[in-house]
Amino acid sequence: MNMMKIAPSILACDFAALGAEVAAMHNAGADLIHVDVMDGHFVPNISLGLPVVASLRKATDAVLDVHLMISDPLTYAPQFCDKGADIVVFHAESDSEPQAVIDAIRAKGKKCGISIKPKTPADVVFPYLDQLDMVLVMTVEPGFGGQKFMEDMCPKIEAVRRECDRRGLSTDIEVDGGIDLKTIGKTVRAGANVFVAGSALFGKPDYAAAVRDLRAAAQRS
Ligand code: DX5
Ligand code: ZN
Repeated sequence: MNMMKIAPSILACDFAALGAEVAAMHNAGADLIHVDVMDGHFVPNISLGLPVVASLRKATDAVLDVHLMISDPLTYAPQFCDKGADIVVFHAESDSEPQAVIDAIRAKGKKCGISIKPKTPADVVFPYLDQLDMVLVMTVEPGFGGQKFMEDMCPKIEAVRRECDRRGLSTDIEVDGGIDLKTIGKTVRAGANVFVAGSALFGKPDYAAAVRDLRAAAQRS
């Protein structure tokens, strides 16, 4: 059984107070800090980039889970590694050749994951599964926080978990988008163990209570 991990997405935080926000979430018991990088090309939104990850790295020893929603991860993934990302997750639908991006991240000694958008089938990641620390199954269309959880992604989560089990792999399966107290259980039962949440955590007044309640909801499922 994989360890359950709660990964608050800073996309929903107060960026003017980024250091304090991340420190507060880390102290609140978050396992990873999820950093959404958007280039205005792969997705129709722009969020943050390399200098922000560099500053975060100086400010916290939390594990930085960097989710690259960008068209050219082959160029930029190694740069995010250099800036201090711990895990770099790129999209299978990007313009880069997945094996080349995996090799580039590995060459930097960092953990590596592939993410798939809602319309992308599970088997797209299967050729790379043995080399991945994590598979990120998007449960909304990437680009924006605060969207509605797509329950029809659950069979895809199950398919990835089944294939990992079949190969004896303990790969983390991360879900991202619309995860909250109501939806998290469905993803747990489907086989997910890393839970990204933006609005459901940074949107709450008491971060420790929010992390604790979300973790409890996952563990109950
Ligand atoms: C969406 C991002 C998510 C987003 C999740 O493209 O990848 O990480 O911040 O936000 P919520 O939890 O509000 O759906
Ligand atoms: Zn994300």
